[in-house]
Amino acid sequence: MKRILVTGGTGYIGSHTVIELLRRDYEIDILDNLFNSKITVLDKIEKISGKRPNFHKIDLLDFEKTEELFKNNQYDLVMHFAGLKAVGESVEKPLKYYENNVGGTINLLKCMQKYDVNKIIFSSSATVYGEQPIPKLDETMPTGMGITNPYGETKHIIEEILKDVVESDNKFEAVILRYFNPVGNHPSGLIGEDPNDIPNNLMPIIMKVSRGEIKELSVYGDDYPTLDGSGVRDFIHVVDLARGHVAAIDKMKPGVLIYNLGTGKGTSVFEMIKAFEKASGKKLPYKVVGRRAGDLAEMFADPSKAEKELGWKTELTVEDAMRDTINYLNNL
Ligand code: WQD
Repeated sequence: MKRILVTGGTGYIGSHTVIELLRRDYEIDILDNLFNSKITVLDKIEKISGKRPNFHKIDLLDFEKTEELFKNNQYDLVMHFAGLKAVGESVEKPLKYYENNVGGTINLLKCMQKYDVNKIIFSSSATVYGEQPIPKLDETMPTGMGITNPYGETKHIIEEILKDVVESDNKFEAVILRYFNPVGNHPSGLIGEDPNDIPNNLMPIIMKVSRGEIKELSVYGDDYPTLDGSGVRDFIHVVDLARGHVAAIDKMKPGVLIYNLGTGKGTSVFEMIKAFEKASGKKLPYKVVGRRAGDLAEMFADPSKAEKELGWKTELTVEDAMRDTINYLNNL
């Protein structure tokens, strides 16, 4: 196993995973349309890892260009991160999300099958669990019910497509990794979450507030049945998340393997604010507003299956993520 194609490899999670792959001497090609990332990430990857991945500016919706890439390169495995991920935007523009995320994945899978590339690791999301009776989520739970946005639906649909492709093709090997809430960035401070679009997520918004780009953080509700009334999530350091992808490579086999990638611990919004303030040494302006439609009170991973089968578990903490975020902000 040497050559890996990373779709979305200049993005937040993709770029951190490319760095972990380069450290392990895999040969990396990145396919990205640069819609929500910047080409300068390649220079930073090279600066961190001493190696520069091959880059192809391709949109997966361009079937001809995607097919040409597979025709000219024999990949052993695809790590598939490319996709739109703004939950709020997906509610306003569902067709854009279904076309881009699902349509793009179908093009990718067609090219993989045509050129005999039979291994895929897919960037999925804990959103596919929808509403569950308990906050601690494990892979045996049913998915696809009570998903509150098209973004989450696209992740669920792609998971179902992968299961059906595996059912139809006994050579195909798929790993589905369900992320919880990725935060933090590489300790070098050279790469981090730097979306082109308007962020939905807590940490990029906290980062914009701390830079004065947004006046204050709106805390979406403090009346949840949680330890302090604010929402509780499983915030996983993106470097731990990236390492989870590498751990999955050696365990692949024909069929579908599904793993949660999370810390197994819940952290509240107010705790995240306090952790950021501690790391930054300054107060973070915020105001409590009404709950956000579609939000759940509490969710966090049961990560025991990944620990048992992949030999992977998180090693970094929310405090590490805040330290690395401040370091990244200081480098911007
Ligand atoms: C976290 C908490 C909010 C913003 C989504 C996707 C999921 C994954 C991560 C990709 C909640 C609160 C947030 C703000 C706030 N994405 N919050 N003010 O909704 O848990 O998950 O992003 O894999 O698939 O569904 O993440 O960061 O939006 O919210 O109070 O301005 O922070 O209410 O409790 P979420 P989030």
